[in-house]
Amino acid sequence: MTSLIGLINKIQRACTVLGDHGGEGLSLWEALPSVAVVGGQSSGKSSVLESVVGRDFLPRGSGIVTRRPLVLQLHKTDPGQTEYAEFLHAPRKRFTDFAAVRKEIADETDRITGKTKQISNIPIHLSIYSPNVVNLTLIDLPGLTKVAVEGQPDSIVEDIENMVRSYVEKPNCIILAISPANQDIATSDAIKLAREVDPSGDRTFGVLTKLDLMDKGTNAVDVLEGRQYRLQHPWVGIVNRSQADINKNVDMIVARRKEREYFETSPEYGHLAHKMGSEYLAKLLSQHLEQVIRQKIPSIISLINKTIDELNAELDRIGRPIAVDSGAQLYTILEMCRAFDKVFKEHLD
Ligand code: GDP
Ligand code: NA
Ligand code: MG
Repeated sequence: MTSLIGLINKIQRACTVLGDHGGEGLSLWEALPSVAVVGGQSSGKSSVLESVVGRDFLPRGSGIVTRRPLVLQLHKTDPGQTEYAEFLHAPRKRFTDFAAVRKEIADETDRITGKTKQISNIPIHLSIYSPNVVNLTLIDLPGLTKVAVEGQPDSIVEDIENMVRSYVEKPNCIILAISPANQDIATSDAIKLAREVDPSGDRTFGVLTKLDLMDKGTNAVDVLEGRQYRLQHPWVGIVNRSQADINKNVDMIVARRKEREYFETSPEYGHLAHKMGSEYLAKLLSQHLEQVIRQKIPSIISLINKTIDELNAELDRIGRPIAVDSGAQLYTILEMCRAFDKVFKEHLD
């Protein structure tokens, strides 16, 4: 089954390329599940994604750091393989230094928006190949805000909300609704938007960050046990690295250990420890995706066949054999689609 999610990732990547050719690639892309983070600014969205991935590579911090959507595909590789990252905008460059990945995301963000507080809805596509990840497509998004700050147009509040909505309203988008525990859940922008686009809650996972920052004498047991705001899926509590940890370069392994210890030794959350934390969230998501993909296999097969037909028509139009770059690319995608189709049919039996 894991290999099936791997295939989905490959298809999504192929479809991204395909989309550039103006074909029907987008509809296939939209048929496949992905996971997006939604929440207020500095609620911990980028931190949660990093923890799920288990690597430090995202720009994060106070203020508006994430200013373009980041579509992140995780590909699980064989044990012992070297981890690397690759951007769609720089396809032949392999990044093995994840600090350089973070810098490239920041630079690529600035390339479109300038060093401003402006946002852009043009996504950055990044793939990570690693033995230490689960196969997933994750989308990091700018945070929802309530007011425009200096240097932002007045429309920014609405612009961000519309951009985020355009991702999470897709029926195949699994929503990580991120709310900080040190704010009243009743005011959570994440829950508000998630509820609007996914009223049944089938595809919404409630994530409560910053449990360590709650006022002394208060706790989030009522939220985490679903008594305060009921969701279809169980809430997951998270303790990410604090800004001080980030400044001190506390690494992921240490952060995960500290998070585990936090729950295991907590008088309030000890009884929930096995259902809390970033690693548990990653497992939960992976299981959910497998279930969703299994249900979708038949419709994916028919979409792939439609894509094959369209690609064939396109190739006939261009004329074969093809020497030009784009034709060769289409041809490769067509071959990939045929291969996927075969594998999917096998999985269906
Ligand atoms: P985003 O704007 O929603 O993507 O949030 P970031 O991941 O960039 O985090 C914003 C700030 O909150 C950073 O300084 C993080 O260190 C801090 N932060 C995020 N989650 C937690 C948490 O669980 N505990 C603590 N103490 N700080 C957190
Ligand atoms: Na931030
Ligand atoms: Mg962010």
